Amino acid sequence: CGIVGYIGTRQAQDVLISGLSKLEYRGYDSAGVAVGDGACIAVRKKAGKLANLQGELAGAPLPGTLGIGHTRWATHGLPNDTNAHPHATEDGKIVIIHNGIIENYLPLKEGLTARGHIFKSETDSEVLAHLIEEAYSGDLYEAVRAALSQVRGAYGIVVTHVDHREIVAARTVSPMVMGVGEGEMFLASDVPALLPYTRNMVFLHDGDMVVLHDDGFRVTDLAGNELKRDIEHIDWDAEAAEKGGYDSYMMKEIYEQPNALTNTLIGRLHDDTGEVNLDINLDPASFKRISIIACGTAYYAGMVGEYLIEQLARIPVDIDVASEYRYRDPLVSEHTLAIVMSQSGETIDTLEALREAKKFGAKTLGIINAKGSSMTREVDDTLYIHAGPEIGVASTKAYTSMVSAMLMLALWLGRARGTLTEDQSRELLHAARELPRLVEESLTPERVENVRAIAEKYADARDFLFLGRGVNSPTAYEGALKLKEISYIHAEAYAAGEMKHGPIALIDEHMPVVVVATESKLLEKTISNVQEVRARKGKVILVLSEGDTENARYGDDVIYVPRAHEMVSPVVNAVALQLLAIFIAEKLGKDVDKPRNLAKAVTVE
Ligand code: G6P
Repeated sequence: CGIVGYIGTRQAQDVLISGLSKLEYRGYDSAGVAVGDGACIAVRKKAGKLANLQGELAGAPLPGTLGIGHTRWATHGLPNDTNAHPHATEDGKIVIIHNGIIENYLPLKEGLTARGHIFKSETDSEVLAHLIEEAYSGDLYEAVRAALSQVRGAYGIVVTHVDHREIVAARTVSPMVMGVGEGEMFLASDVPALLPYTRNMVFLHDGDMVVLHDDGFRVTDLAGNELKRDIEHIDWDAEAAEKGGYDSYMMKEIYEQPNALTNTLIGRLHDDTGEVNLDINLDPASFKRISIIACGTAYYAGMVGEYLIEQLARIPVDIDVASEYRYRDPLVSEHTLAIVMSQSGETIDTLEALREAKKFGAKTLGIINAKGSSMTREVDDTLYIHAGPEIGVASTKAYTSMVSAMLMLALWLGRARGTLTEDQSRELLHAARELPRLVEESLTPERVENVRAIAEKYADARDFLFLGRGVNSPTAYEGALKLKEISYIHAEAYAAGEMKHGPIALIDEHMPVVVVATESKLLEKTISNVQEVRARKGKVILVLSEGDTENARYGDDVIYVPRAHEMVSPVVNAVALQLLAIFIAEKLGKDVDKPRNLAKAVTVE
């Protein structure tokens, strides 16, 4: 979900709507604002995208210079007008917005109901408003603190009361940043919402409470002790988060990949010595085992990492989706390195899995994009991927940058542990250094138009199968995920050799099968799998290395990609499958930046 708060001299509604529009990628099944003018707090909320709310406000703007706003990603309760935030008490005096989940909301709600409170929505969040009302006796900050002492769960909460010219907020796992202006203060769940107004920001920590006034702020912990938080100057370019001429953020981000990869790799590869400098304060010789933990696209980047680390550094690696790792009582010791991978650094499943690994003594490393995010503050060290802000919900440049970061990590471990010779390392370093150029070549108009034509040809298919082998089996998984996410076509992926053990039953003349078959020592075997598909009349879309005319005859359609070393090929191949997915989705008229039911950063379990 996205949160914005404002207190100052401007019309709050304008700041809230502009801020929420920058945060819509965090969740967008409903939106709402509350604006106070001193005499009352008016609430407007609307199911659906922010535009619906904007439409409503256009006819009847809410005057006032204090306000809070929210875009929601539903957890408890349907995404309708009533369940949208903000939530107010019955008398309308206290208004709150909340990100996260109150785990013990049911017993709390029962208690409150028994004591006469009347609930309007089905949300867990509304209990907070009632708890605060119950605890209130003239001091809003104290009432919020008392209410929070009763709740268990994750929250970013923002509260205002009609009798007080202040905003009270608190956060546990949900991110929150404050903007410090001249005679005005801002609050948001992410930096872009504040960039148009101020560059002086305070990142709130887990467990911080804050009171915002027109001319300043005060931070405490949940026990009420005063805390000192520094104001940081953020020099990010606001333009960087705009679409820059493309139809969608996702397309822009696909094209940003050569740049993003350059930023990931820059200054870290030393061809002369075959060394990789990652500036990581961990002893590579001390690990007997590595656990990779991630969700979604980051998980598939982790799968590539598993392969690369085992191949190049010969350390046993296991990989889990975070929601499983956390509850499976994993085998962890002080000789374990737990690597969490996350674009946002905020995904709650991954964050909690990280905490689990730490609890059992693992050393921890984050492979993360978002600077200053929650995970970066809790890991022993972070390998930033430096891909820049990613707005499209379906991850593209963060994926290829994460895979590249994993390659560097595997090289670093391999060199330090003596499993890679200087020559082998140099060869791979050289291959890695080529990546930005190879991806640039993947995006020439001719290649892109070829993928578009193929995408349009198959856009009406109901199902897709994706196949790949070895280091490119994750490429197949990621390709299927991209297609599912943005086109809503059912797609699944298999290791090519496993297809005959089940999915082959699905194949008929209506089933397009995308096969990643770029140069590899196992290419012949993959081509045998292609034959199996053809024998069942499946339609084959081959991803081949440039110049492979020999195997091209086995495909109904061919996407040629630039030739790359096998170990770096997952990066190059992913780009072709991103294009395939986005062109199919565009052909079907889908909103690729905001696919239904998905959120960019899932901060609920
Ligand atoms: C959500 C997004 C995915 C993303 C996943 C993990 O489900 O929709 O695109 O891959 O979260 O996000 P993270 O920020 O941890 O990489």
